[in-house]
Amino acid sequence: MRKILVTSALPYANGPIHLGHMVEHVQTDIWIRFQKARGNDVRGICADDAHGTPIMLRARKECIEPQELIDRIWQEHNADFVDFLVEYDNFYTTHSPENEAISSEIYLALKAAGDIETKTIEQAYDEAAGMFLPDRFIKGTCPNCKTDDQYGDNCESCGATYSPDELINPVSALSGEKPTTRETKHYFFKLGNHQAMLEKWIRSGTLQDGIANKISEWFEVGLKNWDISRDAPYFGFEIPDAPGKYFYVWLDAPIGYMASHKNYCDRVGEDYDSFWNENSKTELYHFIGKDIAYFHTLFWPAMLAGAGKRLPNGVYAHGFLTVDGTKMSKSRGTFIKARTYLKHLSPEYLRYYFAAKLGSGIDDIDLNLEDFTQRVNSDLVGKLVNIASRCSGFINKRFDSQLADTLFDPALFNEFTGGSESIAEKYEAREYSAAIRQIMAFADKANQFVDEHKPWVLIKEEGKLDEVQAVCTQGLNLYRILIAWLQPVLPKLAADSADFLNTDLTSFPNGSTEALLNHTINKFKPLMTRIEPESIKKMTEETKQDVAAEAEPTPTGPLADDPVNAEISFDDFARIDLRIAKIIKAEHVEGADELLQLTLDIGGETRNVFAGIKAAYDPADLEGKLTVMVANLAARKMRFGISEGMVLAAGPGGSELFVLSPDDGAKPGMRVK
Ligand code: 2FM
Ligand code: ZN
Repeated sequence: MRKILVTSALPYANGPIHLGHMVEHVQTDIWIRFQKARGNDVRGICADDAHGTPIMLRARKECIEPQELIDRIWQEHNADFVDFLVEYDNFYTTHSPENEAISSEIYLALKAAGDIETKTIEQAYDEAAGMFLPDRFIKGTCPNCKTDDQYGDNCESCGATYSPDELINPVSALSGEKPTTRETKHYFFKLGNHQAMLEKWIRSGTLQDGIANKISEWFEVGLKNWDISRDAPYFGFEIPDAPGKYFYVWLDAPIGYMASHKNYCDRVGEDYDSFWNENSKTELYHFIGKDIAYFHTLFWPAMLAGAGKRLPNGVYAHGFLTVDGTKMSKSRGTFIKARTYLKHLSPEYLRYYFAAKLGSGIDDIDLNLEDFTQRVNSDLVGKLVNIASRCSGFINKRFDSQLADTLFDPALFNEFTGGSESIAEKYEAREYSAAIRQIMAFADKANQFVDEHKPWVLIKEEGKLDEVQAVCTQGLNLYRILIAWLQPVLPKLAADSADFLNTDLTSFPNGSTEALLNHTINKFKPLMTRIEPESIKKMTEETKQDVAAEAEPTPTGPLADDPVNAEISFDDFARIDLRIAKIIKAEHVEGADELLQLTLDIGGETRNVFAGIKAAYDPADLEGKLTVMVANLAARKMRFGISEGMVLAAGPGGSELFVLSPDDGAKPGMRVK
């Protein structure tokens, strides 16, 4: 029995899962379910990718701790996967004690092996925000085509790549100020030390040819050192012995595969160490999008090898999803969130459609909503489920739900089971579309068989009762094989069909699969309904609304980065109940990196408020001070308790925040006008 670990790329914990993500998670889940059905010892592992600047800034924008944000997003991602029938053995997070320990272990092993060096570099700095700027947070005019408002690393208009200092009129996306340059010490992984190993590894059957060819181009120019550190403030793990320096998110993200596996092994009592040991006889496969091949085929194997760990047996990239022929677009309503899809349509429709389109290559796949409707309705409802509904009625009603004791056409049944190995080979090779074509050709055969023998005609003829039972028994046995083949793609239909056929449909059929004969089935219930075009319309409409809601200005507060650009009416302003508040108590909050807990007196009434001003104030200095609070802000449940309002502060953030205070004479509870 093969012992296999399979992973999907870890989604970032700063946004919802959309149908583009689902291509990969469905592709992976089908492979995992297929391997399990073949009797292999397989585990599927995933996690949220919880670190990095965008996550830190998103939490600030929402005036919450990063932990609260990533906990909430984890719940949403997990529910999306569960409801899409994507069944990981462990869905964890990279912000975990296991990941911190393994990241340190790997880093220290690399350091001991001479793979780490430090260098002082110059980097763009936002003086107003008090932080170094990642390239994506610098915007300006493209030096190549002169298009405005382009990112610091590449131009979306002409595709040119460049460094941020080449941008014309660069500004920080955080403060809008022109960035300055500061020196800072960074830590680098000496990737070049592993070039010889990597050149061999990428040609050892681990990668698709297209990816291996692309990666080889990097060897020709020589592998550069990889910058693995980021300066505070950063949401991530501090580098051992390097205060204020954090691991770059892409260092601890793939280590998150190991950490999620470790968390799983500790929970269920399996052996983690022997799996990752460099001589391990087990198999490790990563499913990824083609855009992150570089990280998984150079940095990741080099890190593993440098730290004395095993290497992946396969890194399998897929293409992107287009909807109706173009890139998913918010304005056209095709940037569809997993949750929005699930509100209107069954997950199995999309699992089937993706499977019918996915091959082992890196071509993009298109979700054409009309084709999707037609294909699902014709293949799954018109062909597949129809076999069961046409044959079950007679068995239920006329034969007391009893199958015959012989098949009508044993040779046809054997032809079906004889097809199993070639279908299995296609699943194994991730040629799902070819597997689906073959299975549907068998479904056509099963329908032809029923059409030819017409049990609905036979039933009216004298002395043909046994024949009707045998024909329907044959039809249901063929249906059973089809469903067993499709179980990795359609696990719910398989489970419902197993209930109805009163049998087990979790293992992949083989040539010696016995027919179900002389066997009692259960009452047939409709197994799948057609997609109504109305559901697609509703989903698209809701997607447009999701986008409109996102575009609305978000509330801002002491931790917010974005200035409020939206104009409000006088009435809007008049609705804000601003009051003078006396800070009667200020305390640190255990586990919170940015918040202080304030007890405020607003004239005979006390309020509990969490304010993101920890880096700016010593709590003792705040006690007794007067300030201004928004007193009619809806209470918000936070991880540490309920926040009943907001205090007003000015400044870019971090240590540069200044709580507003009134002139002498103001009293707690006075309204601010
Ligand atoms: O590109 C992404 O969405 C990353 N969050 C993928 C990380 S995969 C692995 F390395 F963790
Ligand atoms: Zn350009």
